Amino acid sequence: MAPKHGWLLLILMAGAIKGQQHQQLMDYIERRLAVLEERIAQWHDQSSRYSSELRDFKNQVVSMLETVEKERETMRAEVENTAVRVDRLEREVDYLETQNPAPPCVEVDETLMENQVSTAKHRKNQKYEKMTDCSDTISQVKAMKILKRFGSTAGLWTKDPVGNSEKIYVFDGTSNDTVYVFPRMREFTLFSATRKAARIKLPYPWVGTGHLVYGGHLYYIRRHGTFQVIKFSLANKTIVDSAVFPAEEQIPVFGLSSYNYIDVAADEEGLWAIYATRENEKNIALAKLDSTSLDIEQMWDTPCPRENAESAFVICGALYVVYNTRLPSRSRIQCVFDVSGTMTSEDAALVYFPKRYGSHSSMKYNPKERQIYAWDDGYQIIYRMEMKKKLEV
Ligand SMILES: *[C@@H]1O[C@H](CO)[C@@H](O)[C@H](O)[C@H]1NC(C)=O
Ligand SMILES: *[C@@H]1O[C@H](CO)[C@@H](O)[C@H](O)[C@H]1NC(C)=O
Repeated sequence: MAPKHGWLLLILMAGAIKGQQHQQLMDYIERRLAVLEERIAQWHDQSSRYSSELRDFKNQVVSMLETVEKERETMRAEVENTAVRVDRLEREVDYLETQNPAPPCVEVDETLMENQVSTAKHRKNQKYEKMTDCSDTISQVKAMKILKRFGSTAGLWTKDPVGNSEKIYVFDGTSNDTVYVFPRMREFTLFSATRKAARIKLPYPWVGTGHLVYGGHLYYIRRHGTFQVIKFSLANKTIVDSAVFPAEEQIPVFGLSSYNYIDVAADEEGLWAIYATRENEKNIALAKLDSTSLDIEQMWDTPCPRENAESAFVICGALYVVYNTRLPSRSRIQCVFDVSGTMTSEDAALVYFPKRYGSHSSMKYNPKERQIYAWDDGYQIIYRMEMKKKLEV
């Protein structure tokens, strides 16, 4: 009977082992479940904390908004404070982004600089005699403020850099005959409609986003076969002067905005016209414009390509061209042309603008305030620039 006993023992032992394994498995599952349940419990805890935080925050905002109905002024301060904090956060993010700029852009930038140097050598264009001792160049975008969203995707807004007028002039769209005038920045940012704005109906329609207010006059571009620069007095609402732009076969000046043939810019030196012609169709050209007579004093072929350019401005006699891509990414200054030829390539840093909505249809530098009034896909933005001295050669 021994074998029979032996079998039984074996079966019993096997059963015992099986039972032990089973217990181990159960213990294991039990432990894992306990851990998971604990985690989920923590999670719930956290998420309910978050959602109650969110609820509290929402309640806070709602009650804030209610109070605000009565106390607009207080709200404005708070909103501004929030905007400052958002700005700061954005700057931090932008800073991080600039720490890792896309390498191809840097390469393009370097080749541009080389081109600039070699083109400058056999440039028939003369050196410019500066009228001011302004010798600053952009070091970086110091701050940005998104003022509001108004009007079409393309347009321009500007303020007279000469005199003490606080008025804001708005050209909505890329062609029309009406200009909106807001008494101050405050009115422009507070009112959503144009009801509060005065309107100026111009004798001839404007085209593009290259217009400007300077010294109490509106300088605007009219297309009448060829292109004309019209000087319109804001004081007595009459055309003071007009001139056919002395360039033949003009083409859109910025590759990414087909509506701009001439972009009038103001800087410390006065007025400039940024344009392009069929004759030199790859690059942007620059002219110095006499604000009194509308005479063209000097012209330059710049080494800055039209391709992928979205906008440009002039600061202290140097043209800064802002580039983007067809699917808008970050706008950046990738070509600088100094008419007095004093800027070294180290001076012309690759400057990125914080990533925003789309692309800039206009960027108007105000030499008095040293900031840029930009129109980015229907948003009105102010960029404050940090300047540094040029390292003169
Ligand atoms: C100017 O814009 C307004 C509003 O968008 C429009 O009603 C009007 O027809 C435009 N005028 C011209 C001359 O394009
Ligand atoms: C309008 O003002 C300009 C100066 O801004 C002046 O030269 C011009 O004579 C004035 N025209 C009329 C009709 O008053």
